[in-house]
Amino acid sequence: MFLWGTATAAYQIEGAVHEDGRGVSIWDTFAHEPGRTRDGHTGDVACDHYHRWREDVALMSGLGLNAYRFSIAWPRVQPTGSGAVNEKGLDFYDRLVDTLLAAGVQPVPTLFHWDLPQALQDRGGWMSRETAERFAEYAAIAARRLADRVPLWITLNEPFVHMAFGYAMGVHAPGQALMTDALPAAHHQLLGHGLAVRALRAAGARQVALTNNCTPVRAASADEADVKAAEAYDTLHNRLFNDPVVLGRYPDLSAYTAALDFLQDGDLETIAAPLDALGINYYQPTRIAAPTAEGLPFTDAGITGHPTTAFGWPVVPDGLRELLTGLTSRYGAALPPILVTENGCSQDDVLTEHGTVEDAGRIAFLRGHIEAMRQAMAAGVDVRGYFVWSLLDNFEWAEGYHQRFGLVHVDFATQRRTPKASYAWLKEFLAGQNTDT
Ligand code: FCB
Repeated sequence: MFLWGTATAAYQIEGAVHEDGRGVSIWDTFAHEPGRTRDGHTGDVACDHYHRWREDVALMSGLGLNAYRFSIAWPRVQPTGSGAVNEKGLDFYDRLVDTLLAAGVQPVPTLFHWDLPQALQDRGGWMSRETAERFAEYAAIAARRLADRVPLWITLNEPFVHMAFGYAMGVHAPGQALMTDALPAAHHQLLGHGLAVRALRAAGARQVALTNNCTPVRAASADEADVKAAEAYDTLHNRLFNDPVVLGRYPDLSAYTAALDFLQDGDLETIAAPLDALGINYYQPTRIAAPTAEGLPFTDAGITGHPTTAFGWPVVPDGLRELLTGLTSRYGAALPPILVTENGCSQDDVLTEHGTVEDAGRIAFLRGHIEAMRQAMAAGVDVRGYFVWSLLDNFEWAEGYHQRFGLVHVDFATQRRTPKASYAWLKEFLAGQNTDT
């Protein structure tokens, strides 16, 4: 069955940050620090999904999709990231899973979508090897409770973005600006993924995947310096997170680090544990030029000549085809089947006086990207699912509530949900789909 779904993440939608024994996450801490998010927005309430989840499941079944990718908040399950389990936190996901299944929607949980328990951050977070071990324990706890009903699990969401924004540049939680010294945060996330694959399978999970944020990288010109810089960027963004998982080895990282002193014997075998699928999040391609200053071996040259989203991201549907066919040529038979686990766009959506949201741009975006995915499939790429980011307008990290990505508009003052024109379009589109293709 081809999975057609939407995706969300716990901190972006749940709210209820102090309820039922939930512990503090690094995003609670970060969002409450002055100047970290636009207008000081936090996820304290977000879409209040923790209380309104039944209404949100009804919105999903109304769409006619057959899968839903959400994330489990580690601090709800283990408030301090280790030791005692908070049963009330697990109960929430247990009810959600049952209600989704009753509505004909396959639950696809992601175990880590950036909301690390603060207590683990206080011991180094992903810069510390210990976090990888704690992550595997938490994965086993979640699977022991849910794997009888949840076939497919995703370990991490976008370890690249978490490393780059959270540990290298400091624009996301935990707000560290370590630049290339952040590389251990990549390795420990990947190690945590590998250990979790083992733990999940031992606890009864039937299928396991990892979600990477990938981008097709284009050189700004055919000049050797630009081409070399584009290769360096591709290594950092794509290969650093795909090669060890798919091939069991790191790419050449000598442009970034003198030695991989965080790497221990056996780690790569753990990280390369066979997967049932590789999740790919695609938003935009990247254009790279030679470095202009000391520091990183590349410069972002920006994509021009395309329309942009409210975020300023270029809209390039064909980049998805390019990415998927590129992964297939790079990894060949070693590449697991692909799930497009996120794709979508932010728009300056307005709720009209008639109670409608006319988001024609989002419809064009989704139509174009689904078509590009189909072209990749026709060219031989094994794609098994497509998830729209996102079901609801939600807390967009450092941008707070300023970027609206939802198929459903949320009025954050009243929590009123209003399906947008794109929701109606997707519903009609899905009604016409044979879910086998
Ligand atoms: C991805 C994140 C997701 C959302 C989208 C817009 O990088 O995984 O949580 O913020 O971007």
